[in-house]
Amino acid sequence: MTPLDEVRSAWASLAPTLNAADESTLVELRSRFVGKKGEIPGLMRHLGSLPPEEKPAYGSAVQALRQEVEGTLDRLQVELRSRALAQRLESERLDLSLDGDGADAGTLHPLLALRDEILDLFTGMGFDVADAPEIDTEWFNFSALNVPDDHPARDMQDTFFLSREPGQEAVVLRTHTSNYQIHALRDRKPPFRLLHCGQVYRCDADATHAPMFCQVEGLVLDRGITFANLKATLFTMVRALYGPQAVLRFRPSFFPFTEPSAEMDVDCRSVGLDRDGWMEIGGCGMVHPKVLENGGLDASEFQGFAFGFGLDRMAMLRHGIKEIALLTNGDMRFLRQFRGLA
Ligand code: DAH
Repeated sequence: MTPLDEVRSAWASLAPTLNAADESTLVELRSRFVGKKGEIPGLMRHLGSLPPEEKPAYGSAVQALRQEVEGTLDRLQVELRSRALAQRLESERLDLSLDGDGADAGTLHPLLALRDEILDLFTGMGFDVADAPEIDTEWFNFSALNVPDDHPARDMQDTFFLSREPGQEAVVLRTHTSNYQIHALRDRKPPFRLLHCGQVYRCDADATHAPMFCQVEGLVLDRGITFANLKATLFTMVRALYGPQAVLRFRPSFFPFTEPSAEMDVDCRSVGLDRDGWMEIGGCGMVHPKVLENGGLDASEFQGFAFGFGLDRMAMLRHGIKEIALLTNGDMRFLRQFRGLA
């Protein structure tokens, strides 16, 4: 057997084991056969001792063996790496289609779940949902809503002022979502039905008041709108949220931006709470002509109703929650009770 035949058969004898070779075996084989001091380069040393006429054939035979060995080793290495990658992808697989109802699955906060339900309900009644700033000028928050500078109504809502320089428009954390009414009147053309939901801020804290809470504001403007439209809309909302047995009452009240004005109370027992009495959920009324004018509208042509209620209060009624602060202080023991709301 010639040295070339020896190397050839050594390589051939490895063939059955090659498919199972691991990365380090492939490195060893590469260095053994085609490395600088490997067996195939070693064969070229015999070239000098061959008769000239045999040299070309010998050279190309060695070269062919070299190409076969290198080609095979290259292919095996690529296969090995792609198999390793596939295995890794399989073992690290993340099933995004899992339905997420495991013990630690996230869930909607009760306020967000209720907000979504209310938005759904009102969009079903033809309302559009829109946004408004939480930081606003005193004019949008008070003056344009017909609250005069020195009117005691401004004290009804203890305001966080962000800037109050003499000669400049004061900037406040809005005390109610009613600032939205003025933005809506200025940005849109009636007729419209609009709903806005967002945070409001007041310097106030006890079991049923929090310094930051969430309100839902509605504004409907058209020709020929009456208080009956307002009542029908809000009865529909309360019954949809709490069931047909829910009792809602309208109590005459005062807001500078509506005339007449009313407050809305829900009978606690009628919505399943274990206590007597009424819980106030918000205010409402027919939009005051001055507000329409401040919004740039002709008050003799358009009428409208507006309402604003506290989402936190609605959630407290819904779930029998006694402390408003529980809704925002992030206590997991409290929040875990609302798993699966959405
Ligand atoms: N903005 C009032 C408040 O926060 C609630 C309110 C009353 C909103 C009457 C209205 C309304 O839209 O018409 O106390």
